[in-house]
Amino acid sequence: MEQAFRLFPVSASANADAVDANYLFIVLITIVFTIGITAAVFYFAVRYRRRSEHEIPKPVHGSLMLEIAWSVVPFALCMVMFGWGAIVFFRGYNPPPNAMEIFVVGKQWMWKTQHPNGAREINELHLPVGRPIKLTMTTEDVLHSFYIPAFRMKKDVVPGQYSTMWFEPTRTGKYHLFCTEYCGNQHSGMIGWVHVMEEADYEAWLAGGTRGETMVQAGERQFNKLGCATCHKADNSGRGPSLVDVFGSPQKLQSGMTVMADEGYLRESILKPAAKTLAGYNVEMPTFQGQISEEGLLQVISYIKSISKHSQQAQAAAPAPAETKKGGAKQ
Ligand code: CUA
Repeated sequence: MEQAFRLFPVSASANADAVDANYLFIVLITIVFTIGITAAVFYFAVRYRRRSEHEIPKPVHGSLMLEIAWSVVPFALCMVMFGWGAIVFFRGYNPPPNAMEIFVVGKQWMWKTQHPNGAREINELHLPVGRPIKLTMTTEDVLHSFYIPAFRMKKDVVPGQYSTMWFEPTRTGKYHLFCTEYCGNQHSGMIGWVHVMEEADYEAWLAGGTRGETMVQAGERQFNKLGCATCHKADNSGRGPSLVDVFGSPQKLQSGMTVMADEGYLRESILKPAAKTLAGYNVEMPTFQGQISEEGLLQVISYIKSISKHSQQAQAAAPAPAETKKGGAKQ
């Protein structure tokens, strides 16, 4: 199966060919210029070599045409690389709204992943083929970097914040997953496998695991357990603001600024309630730093997303309708 020698890993995501084409273009330009410049160096060295002891060369006073050409041509080529690269980059980093969300937490030295229905994995990630997947990622300790060569996607996971990336697997199979940021003495062992499966196989796999709570259920349980629910009442009668429909909507702050309530904002508000105070509220909320794990935070945020009409999560988290029936029959 595996070829003995392969210049590129297999291309298994919707964006992979675009990344390869862009990369090949840059390599090609580099090769053409390397060969051209090296050949010119040799040619000039021979053609204009010193032929006698007292030879004085004829002075050269420059050529405007030549100087314009060697400035404009490389500039144009660089702008093509930049423009083309930017298009591929932005396409790769802006997830479509219907993407299925998977959560990733890096830890010395493993990757922990969790599916919307609550299924957890370590150093493995099972995915359905042909569906856009968005990863929301963070780390419990140091900086790691999540890399799936076959998908041509790589992103750092940074302590204290969420990184996202997305891709659409286009062929079933088993692909390598790496950590590509030196993160301690077992960094090289922080590897795993991504299993891309047919939609039906994925649903069967999801249904087969020991099924606990979904992300949203676990989040709701924590929301109650940590006492969030006593102040953040749904009907806004509590001491804190209601969190219904908050995710994905702009929030007015005491400072006069407006911020978008995204994952990063919710995370910060849970860990550092005073960082961005809502207009009309005093900060009475204690910090939850140290009381909730990274996975717990992702669950609580999933719950807050689930009660917002601005969130795509409810639709995206649900399996495709045809598969729901099959999965339902099994339970
Ligand atoms: Cu984690 Cu290297």
